[in-house]
Amino acid sequence: MDFLTDRDVQRYMEDGYVVLDGLLTPQECDELRQRMAEIVDQMDVPDHCRTTFSTYHDEQLKTQGNADYFITSGDQIRFFFEKGVFDDKGDFIVPKQKSVNKVGHALHAYEPLFKTVTHSLKMQSIAKKMGLARPAILQSMYIFKQPGIGGEVTPHQDATFLYTEPLGRVMGVWIALEEATINNGCLWFIPGSQKNGITRRMVRTPKGTFPLTNFIGREQTYDEDKFVPAPVKKGGVVLIHGEVVHRSDENRSESSRHVYTFHMMEEQDTEWSPDNWLQPTEELPFPPLYTQ
Ligand code: FE2
Repeated sequence: MDFLTDRDVQRYMEDGYVVLDGLLTPQECDELRQRMAEIVDQMDVPDHCRTTFSTYHDEQLKTQGNADYFITSGDQIRFFFEKGVFDDKGDFIVPKQKSVNKVGHALHAYEPLFKTVTHSLKMQSIAKKMGLARPAILQSMYIFKQPGIGGEVTPHQDATFLYTEPLGRVMGVWIALEEATINNGCLWFIPGSQKNGITRRMVRTPKGTFPLTNFIGREQTYDEDKFVPAPVKKGGVVLIHGEVVHRSDENRSESSRHVYTFHMMEEQDTEWSPDNWLQPTEELPFPPLYTQ
């Protein structure tokens, strides 16, 4: 039997997401977490993250530095921190392992364990069952949702950041490396909201201008009551339609909620927007999911 059943596909089409148990074994989850702990242990913290600036001019530099660091991270493994984890000398005031919000955006290309999980036969069979002819990997992230300080993610649609024409070509894969519950910040969805298009886009601004990205359209407010939680067991996965509205709470619990997540796009008959922040590079074109 397929890992993804007809019923799962139907649920994804109707609700815009589906939760599946047992994509990874607990041991596979632990191997990924262990590897990430090593990566964080060895990380170089970029200067602009460490330094606290005081003057107006320096504040601008800091912002430009942060913006550059982000917008050129598509083919790199880079570190994005929680707020308030450095003191004014740029030293950590929390344990290093607890300081990182996420690591992105090319673990799928450069880290062998993450690459293996991304292109696993199960993953390929999921994409085939979804009817994807030429899926390619766009980006990947490791998200920590640190206990006590892991911030909330406000309601959004992934296609705001990963825009294609036509829409409906991007799918997120969100793998719980630890159990995700309503207490430690699991995802919440508005079922069916993928059917109404998107309300805003993040686009690159013209070269040489600042900020480097801007939003077109309005951030919508959503009715709190419409969100449904999507708890996931360790090793389980959530498949996320590019246009479904979702969010997650801050993590007020004692336990972290580590996740490995990546996005794929059906390349057949699809135009990847040149205005998206993320662009394929010579170094790293979007790799095809199917390896066989
Ligand atoms: Fe998202």
